[in-house]
This record gives sequence, structure tokens and C-alpha cells, in this order.
Amino acid sequence: EMAEKEGYDHFMIKEINEQDAAIRNTLGEKDKIKDIVDEVKETINRVVFVACGTSYHASLTGKYLIESLVGIPTEVLLASEFKYSAKALNDQTLVIFISQSGETADTLKALDAANETSKTLAIVNVRGSSATRKADYVIQTQAGPEIGVAATKTYVSQLIAIYLFSALLADDADLLKRLEKVPDYIDEVLKKQGIIREISNNYKRDKDAFFIGRGFSYPIALEGALKLKEISYIHAEGYAAGELKHGPIALIDKNIPVVVVVPPGQDHNKIMSNLQEVKARGADVLGIGAIGDKDLIKESDNVFLINSEVDDILAPLVYIVPLQLLSYHVSVLRELDPDKPKNLAKCVTVE
Ligand code: G6P
Repeated sequence: EMAEKEGYDHFMIKEINEQDAAIRNTLGEKDKIKDIVDEVKETINRVVFVACGTSYHASLTGKYLIESLVGIPTEVLLASEFKYSAKALNDQTLVIFISQSGETADTLKALDAANETSKTLAIVNVRGSSATRKADYVIQTQAGPEIGVAATKTYVSQLIAIYLFSALLADDADLLKRLEKVPDYIDEVLKKQGIIREISNNYKRDKDAFFIGRGFSYPIALEGALKLKEISYIHAEGYAAGELKHGPIALIDKNIPVVVVVPPGQDHNKIMSNLQEVKARGADVLGIGAIGDKDLIKESDNVFLINSEVDDILAPLVYIVPLQLLSYHVSVLRELDPDKPKNLAKCVTVE
């Protein structure tokens, strides 16, 4: 096992550091994805994503992408809730299943049901897994085997597959070109990972944390919170920043950590005013934003800064990396084993 970790303390940190390569390799699936897009694009008027856990968060990003780039109505269902909506599917619905393992019981059950009415596409990391045999179309993510229970490199690989699919469906040459640079942006974040390790010391004794974002950054907040609770056992909630004032802001007071995801883009000012709302109640703000964002630097207690070419649309692929690193380091500082969180399994084969 030591040899397999290649000098890293845990598989999780090794896999976080493999994310630039995982994305670069999955970008190589572009031509195969184009063939699938060409086959389905004339016949679909609706898309439904189905997944669990981290794969569900990748699916939420897919909804924002397909609706904003292509304008096709898109929904996201938790696999365990799929059957309650299954009657509304028809042969013009494309049902996209996202699963690292391709073996999650709820997801496979939903895939069987969807095959009765609709065209199905599975985005899967494990070769030859059940989902790859059941679906009409398969996109293989090229993350390589993932050992850590908390998904990291397979998540960004799912995302890049969804970005490729959506950009090809939209025929968006500009976005396709911008995707090529994502491995470099991730590499830049990884080179600065010591900053996150330092910041993590502030959070190791916390009992609660909030993560907020808007639009494309909302699923980043959800996934950041899931990572932290999975491996550090800190109660963490991801929230749409605009929804905070409809309840959870009642919980914000002095020293409650709030991680605010603030990429450059159309909603920058809105998210900054959400940041000020929590700050006014004494929250300890960790801002994740762009290099040169003076407002963010001024208003936050701590910041982690990312290449300013990464705007709100590309943010899910890059901004998640500091949040993965944060949960990893907090877990280690709390003397837990991030690779083997209690009560969790890499693959859940019961419904
Ligand atoms: C388990 C894992 C999660 C994963 C989820 C869905 O809960 O611990 O990391 O996101 O299953 O797994 P899948 O293989 O279907 O993506």
C-alpha cells in the first residue's frame, strides 16, 4: 500500500494531485463524445440526470450547463428518488446516469427503469462495470482507479465529460477551446496547496461550517460541504447564497466559518453582498476567488486566489480543488483517516 501511495500520506491527497492528469486524459474522449452527441441531438427535447452523492453534484452542474448553453429543459434526480418521476419520461428524453463505480444499486435500478422508455447515457469511471453494460451510450472518464472513499479526481473527470458533452451539443467552439486550459489552471492551484494547509488550522476545532455560492458556484458549495462532512465529521451545509436569508442566516454568528465561492462573472456583486451579510453577523469568511479581486481580499478573513481566466462557467472544474484540500487537511489535523471515513463505502450496493 505504501508503494501505491507513491510517497503521499493518503490516497486522497495523491488523487487530488492527479486531477490535472485526470482531466487531460478525459479531454481525450472528445471525439467519442462527439459521436454520441451527433446520434442523440436530433431526437431529444429533455434531459434528466440521475446520480447519488458527489456524482449528483456533477449532475447539478450539468443542468446549469445544458440549460444555459443549449436551452434544453434539464432536471436532476437523486437515483433513490428516481422512480417517483419515472412516469414523466418518454422517448424524447435523454437520461444521463453519472456514476464513478457504475455499480451503485440505486443508480442501476433507475437505469433499468429508464431503459424501458428512453435513450440512456452512462458517464462512468470503472471499466466494464454494470452501468456500462446497461446503458445505450457510455462515456468513459479517464481518472484511473480511485481508492479514497471521498471522490475527487473522478468528480472533476465527470465534470469535464459533462462540459464536453454540453459544449458539443451547443456547438460552442469557444468553450471547447477554453476547456483545454483547465488542467493548467488546476496545476496552478495544486502548486499553492500549502496555503490551504495553513488555512486549515483555523477550522480544525469547528463544529459547523457553511459553504455558499450562486449559479455554477452553488454545486461547488454543495460538494465542498459534502467533502468536509464526509471526512472530517464537521457538520457542513452547502447553500445557494441567495437562499441564506430564508433560514440558515439565523445560525450565523461570531466565528462560524463560511466559505464563499466568488469567481469572476455576472453575479460577482451579488455574491459579494451575500458575503457582507454573513460578515456583518461575525462569520469567519474564507473567500475563494480570482487573483486581483481586491474587494474579496479586503472583506475576507482568509482567501485562496485562482487564475482570473477561470470565470463562473469554468469555476466548478477548478474552484472545487481548494475545497477538497481544505477537507483533507482538516481531517488529517483532527487525526482522522481521510481514506476510510466511518460508516461510508466507496460503492453502495444496497438500495
Ligand atoms: C458513495 C461514495 C461517494 C459517491 C457515491 C456515488 O456514497 O462514498 O463518494 O459519490 O457513493 O457513487 P457512484 O459510484 O455512483 O458515483
